[in-house]
Amino acid sequence: SRILVLHGPNLNMLGTREPSVYGTTTLAQINQNLTQLGAELGCAVTCLQSNAEHELIDAIQQAHGNIDFIIINPAAYTHTSVAIRDALQGVQIPCIEVHLSNVHAREAFRHHSYISDIAQGVISGFGAAGYSFALQQAVSLLQSSSH
Ligand code: DQA
Repeated sequence: SRILVLHGPNLNMLGTREPSVYGTTTLAQINQNLTQLGAELGCAVTCLQSNAEHELIDAIQQAHGNIDFIIINPAAYTHTSVAIRDALQGVQIPCIEVHLSNVHAREAFRHHSYISDIAQGVISGFGAAGYSFALQQAVSLLQSSSH
């Protein structure tokens, strides 16, 4: 199966960006880890980070017919973007929402997500490990839906 991992704005700064909140693992390390885990689980993982909302939307649209599952950390767009929600709903590709930090333990404006209610599940507060768990779950959901 084919899995797309999308990272939203400022996640290219992981490692140096507020390490007490987001950890010290870099985005390159997260992506490398996911690609390797994907290979072990028999799936092709593609990772993309963008600071631009339209690039994330373009990637979701292009995933239609090419991707079986999306893992997305929409970062700040989680709390603002009807457009990313509409894109995910439009392509009808199942997704898991991931956050490194526990958004519910932070400012009130981070408590609402435009994505959570259309996601298969949400992982928040477990740092980079959350992505690995999301990938394992994506593979098992795809396996159970194919028989
Ligand atoms: C984040 C949480 C968001 O509130 C924030 O805007 C981010 C990162 C996280 O991974 O914890 O940029 O999505």
